[in-house]
Amino acid sequence: MTNSASDSEFLAKIEATRREALDALRDARDAVSLEKARVKYLGSKGLVGELSKGMKALDPAARPEAGRAVNQLRAETDAAFAALQKSFQAQEDPREFLDVTLPGRRSPLGHAHLINQTSAEICSIFALMGFSITEGPEIETDYYNFEALNFPADHPSRDMQQSLFVGEKLLLRTHTSCVQIRTMEKTPPPVWIVVPGKTYRRDDDLTHSPMFNQIEGLAVDSKITMADLKGVLTEFARQFFGEGAKIRLRPSFFPFTEPSAEVDVACVSCGGRGCRICKDSGWLEVLGCGMVNPALYKHVNYDPQKVSGFAFGIGVDRMAMLKYRLDNIGRFYQGDARHARQFPS
Ligand code: DAH
Repeated sequence: MTNSASDSEFLAKIEATRREALDALRDARDAVSLEKARVKYLGSKGLVGELSKGMKALDPAARPEAGRAVNQLRAETDAAFAALQKSFQAQEDPREFLDVTLPGRRSPLGHAHLINQTSAEICSIFALMGFSITEGPEIETDYYNFEALNFPADHPSRDMQQSLFVGEKLLLRTHTSCVQIRTMEKTPPPVWIVVPGKTYRRDDDLTHSPMFNQIEGLAVDSKITMADLKGVLTEFARQFFGEGAKIRLRPSFFPFTEPSAEVDVACVSCGGRGCRICKDSGWLEVLGCGMVNPALYKHVNYDPQKVSGFAFGIGVDRMAMLKYRLDNIGRFYQGDARHARQFPS
């Protein structure tokens, strides 16, 4: 009797422990309290283990039933623990966990490359003086790149431009001057344009890159003189380099202009006194220009008796290097974001 009373008490104790253990596990609010509950019931010195040991005191006949009950209790609490642990882990997984109070992640904003910023700045200076902006193809025919610009075939003047040919009479344009002809061909005078774009030559050193950027300017109208050219370029230099900028024109040669000139700007670094940047001359060469050679007009059906004009070609890379004091043109094209980031727009 005593035995059977204690046997049924033991079964009742198993049942009570089962409920208590399941409640404790389910009440756990986080992984730490869940682990505490596991140690209390399923740990090596836990209550479930104690029940197993307690079976020794039972009547041998009652042990199988009690053993089954304890095993079931262990299996059930084990399963409950495993399921709850899994759900806590899922919550801790950052992919599943969303904390709406955290500050958002900014996507970094890009900005225009310094070359494009400089090109846009130069174009807008001329746009405010009344020039329109136009473009042309980068793969050009020999005709537009050379012939119509008065570079005769086999003439030494072609050697000024180390060309990259992609076909017999097809090349990567060596300058934007081709767009002078393309525009005049389809537009009657007056023409006032600037032409930004990429240009290509077989050159590669600290100040030359095989791909570089130019802005061509062309003004053809009635009674245009060299004074207009000088006035426009002086104003441009002031706007781009600052009010005090000074320019000078030196005689030069280009087949498509007559007369032709190189334009120098007083050194932006020393103001004209002479320094390393201007090689002690006080001046920096910035662009080529001249009065449109009337030989061009016959290709585009303009009447040289009625029109006259000026043209200029600006190296954008050179302008950016002078303005921002850079000494290696290659940096523009290496795709290094640390360089680009120093010149936010
Ligand atoms: N096309 C010349 C070059 O790339 C630059 C140039 C010089 C353009 C004089 C012009 C000009 O329009 O008048 O070297």
